Amino acid sequence: MKQVFVGGLLAASAAAWNLDVHNQIGFMAETFLTPYTTSVLHEILESQYNGSIGKAGSWADGYAHTTEGRYSAPWHFIDTEDNPPTFCHLNYKHDCSSSGCVVSAIANQTEILKGCIKEVKDGSLTAGTNLTCSYALKWVTHFLGDISQPLHASGRAYGGNRFPVIFANVSTQMHKVWDAYIPYMDANVTEPFSNQSIDPFFASLVSRIKKEDFAQSPSTWLSCTDPSTALACATLWATETNKWDCEYVYQHVDNITDVATSGYAVGAFPIIELQISKAALRLGTWLNNLVEGNAHELDEQVEL
Ligand SMILES: *[C@@H]1O[C@H](CO)[C@@H](O)[C@H](O)[C@H]1NC(C)=O
Ligand SMILES: *[C@@H]1O[C@H](CO)[C@@H](O)[C@H](O)[C@H]1NC(C)=O
Ligand SMILES: *[C@@H]1O[C@H](CO)[C@@H](O)[C@H](O)[C@H]1NC(C)=O
Ligand SMILES: *[C@@H]1O[C@H](CO)[C@@H](O)[C@H](O)[C@H]1NC(C)=O
Ligand SMILES: *[C@@H]1O[C@H](CO)[C@@H](O)[C@H](O)[C@H]1NC(C)=O
Ligand SMILES: *[C@@H]1O[C@H](CO)[C@@H](O)[C@H](O)[C@H]1NC(C)=O
Ligand SMILES: *[C@@H]1O[C@H](CO)[C@@H](O)[C@H](O)[C@H]1NC(C)=O
Repeated sequence: MKQVFVGGLLAASAAAWNLDVHNQIGFMAETFLTPYTTSVLHEILESQYNGSIGKAGSWADGYAHTTEGRYSAPWHFIDTEDNPPTFCHLNYKHDCSSSGCVVSAIANQTEILKGCIKEVKDGSLTAGTNLTCSYALKWVTHFLGDISQPLHASGRAYGGNRFPVIFANVSTQMHKVWDAYIPYMDANVTEPFSNQSIDPFFASLVSRIKKEDFAQSPSTWLSCTDPSTALACATLWATETNKWDCEYVYQHVDNITDVATSGYAVGAFPIIELQISKAALRLGTWLNNLVEGNAHELDEQVEL
């Protein structure tokens, strides 16, 4: 994706947490994986990623912009019938488009991934040779990030893509402000984050998760992380994400001339940090539950 510098701050043309933010959510999640999960995922991902869901975390955006992968573009969001800041709401059956949405895609790709994990365990899948499986893991990694971004779970102005705002004197739109401008400003960077290893800003979020340095214990973020109820969990996560559109994203925004300098961006930092942290911990836990949960089933079969 083309990167451009705007007003001293970095922006980009991706319509999702910026590519490098997706990489970083993946690197954060890697720190929560068990060694066994890590070894299983290594066999699922195409070899170019060397087993790293961080490196693989941004693939889905590029793919959605190819002719071949265009069908997957609707899977990155859910355009709910809401009207923030006065009305936030998500109704999966009504809001998920017939081409799919982030909620259905998480459920579908999780189900595919289950089969792939079984194939790794029975030795029929090694070295990332089954593309259906590598794609499923890359999509799950990416979509658990997208579903935590408030403007990926809101229908107002097409997820804020058609909601014009000024950021540091530059005319832009709300979606991009949350995908890119605010995270870069929060991390105080003028270059993209690495796509090869964890950046200090995200490493510090991992430390905070481990120290439970959030208003609510991170364990509360994991109330729904059983992959056998994927549709229910993804619906819950998206509903929770959508609430931010009423509680912050569109609050008072009509009166703000520049969201970078009005206090709006700074006020969004804790929300961005929370949502990214939730995404990473949920992703790591989800993958562990998928891999270790299957291991448990196999153990039971062996015992029989
Ligand atoms: C691949 O991953 C392994 C284990 O994480 C690491 O030791 C090795 O340096 C990596 N290789 C490359 C080429 O990144
Ligand atoms: C489920 O995933 C498969 C493989 O990517 C895809 O062909 C299919 O369209 C998906 N179905 C839904 C409902 O998303
Ligand atoms: C790839 O994995 C999928 C999902 O488990 C499976 O349905 C398919 O048969 C596999 N393809 C090959 C060539 O093994
Ligand atoms: C916005 O433009 C004004 C006037 O040119 C300038 O003083 C100010 O520093 C700019 N703000 C930012 C954040 O670039
Ligand atoms: C942001 O980065 C600049 C340049 O590296 C540095 O001078 C400044 O102190 C940093 N600000 C904060 C709040 O960390
Ligand atoms: C990783 O980042 C570098 C530097 O920004 C960029 O040149 C490269 O294309 C990126 N690689 C991928 C796979 O996105
Ligand atoms: C904008 O400011 C006006 C005047 O102060 C106020 O009446 C109005 O409620 C504000 N709107 C929002 C959305 O905050």
